[in-house]
Amino acid sequence: MKAIVYRNYGSPDVLRCEEIEKPIAGDDELLIRVRAASVNPYDWRLMRGKPLFLRLMIGGLRKPKITRPGRDVAGQVEAVGRNVTQFKPGDEVFGVCHGAFAEYVCAMEDILALKPANISFEDAAAVPVAAITALQGLRDKGRIQRGHKVLVDGASGGVGTFAVQMAKSFGAEVTAVCSTRNVDTARSIGADQVIDYTREDFTHSGQRYDLIMAANAYHSIFDYRRALSQDGIYVMAGGGWAQIFQALLLGPLLSLIGNKKMCFLSAKIAKKDLVLLKDLLATGKIVPVIDRRYPLAETAEAIRYLEEGHAKGKVVLTLEDDKI
Ligand SMILES: NC(=O)c1ccc[n+]([C@@H]2O[C@H](COP(=O)([O-])OP(=O)(O)OC[C@H]3O[C@@H](n4cnc5c(N)ncnc54)[C@H](OP(=O)(O)O)[C@@H]3O)[C@@H](O)[C@H]2O)c1
Repeated sequence: MKAIVYRNYGSPDVLRCEEIEKPIAGDDELLIRVRAASVNPYDWRLMRGKPLFLRLMIGGLRKPKITRPGRDVAGQVEAVGRNVTQFKPGDEVFGVCHGAFAEYVCAMEDILALKPANISFEDAAAVPVAAITALQGLRDKGRIQRGHKVLVDGASGGVGTFAVQMAKSFGAEVTAVCSTRNVDTARSIGADQVIDYTREDFTHSGQRYDLIMAANAYHSIFDYRRALSQDGIYVMAGGGWAQIFQALLLGPLLSLIGNKKMCFLSAKIAKKDLVLLKDLLATGKIVPVIDRRYPLAETAEAIRYLEEGHAKGKVVLTLEDDKI
């Protein structure tokens, strides 16, 4: 089968589309024929192996241990291991695995869900990591409530486009922050207000928010704190390294002062959340925003584009037979 492989850290030039052995499902696994996969910043961060401490965390100081990129997958079950009880061959599924950028992949049943019949493989593949991050950021860390004033920073990317839609479906009043060219998209997915960050700095506007979900954080933690209401919560999912370290190191300390909470989100892939997302997808409460589609052979281009940091929603790989 064809799969994307890399053996050295580096730019997307290290990615190769190679012929490798088709995997065999273990006892607890499913073999999936991949129909679509989506790209996440996680994929290029691992491929780059930067900063160096990331290599310490995942293993592989000089050479990558993880050599097959791709987490988000949607496809058709081809075979199941003997302990698999929830799926059968022929089922259409979506979820998370390792090495999704390939024609076939093995995955565990507890991080997969049935794909709604009315949703395409591409839409389903766009969902898992980004939408679970948005969901857990708003619901679990952010304790979102109906009527809350919620601001989503980085509202036009993979996580942000789901966060805006979900915050609306939780009954919040949503302000989206993005650049000029994405203002219309932010409105079209339900934002009540849109702030163009190239023209206005919301952290100095005097407005206060009950919840700030930073899908892409590029302000200092003190700026975000200033923009919170008295009992407000700041949830940091991603963005610049300085912002990540601030949330990890200063967040717990700042949360001890007054009632404002500042936290870092580390999303966990959970079956119950995938099932919830399946229902939100099926009923149209979330509609994936897909910016670009690439065939598997052009994975390097897809990752290069996402790495530029201005994708409008998700970047998806499609695995139609004639395009591979
Ligand atoms: N903590 C976790 O568990 C977890 C899980 C998943 C992802 N993440 C992280 O979350 C972050 C977002 O992921 P993603 O999939 O949404 O990434 P993404 O799709 O690559 O984000 C691209 C978006 O970022 C926006 N952006 C760039 N600079 C901005 C700025 N200064 N202010 C506001 N928005 C800006 C861009 O909007 P414009 O083009 O309008 O500038 C673009 O739409 C990444 O850092 C990722 O690693 C964390």
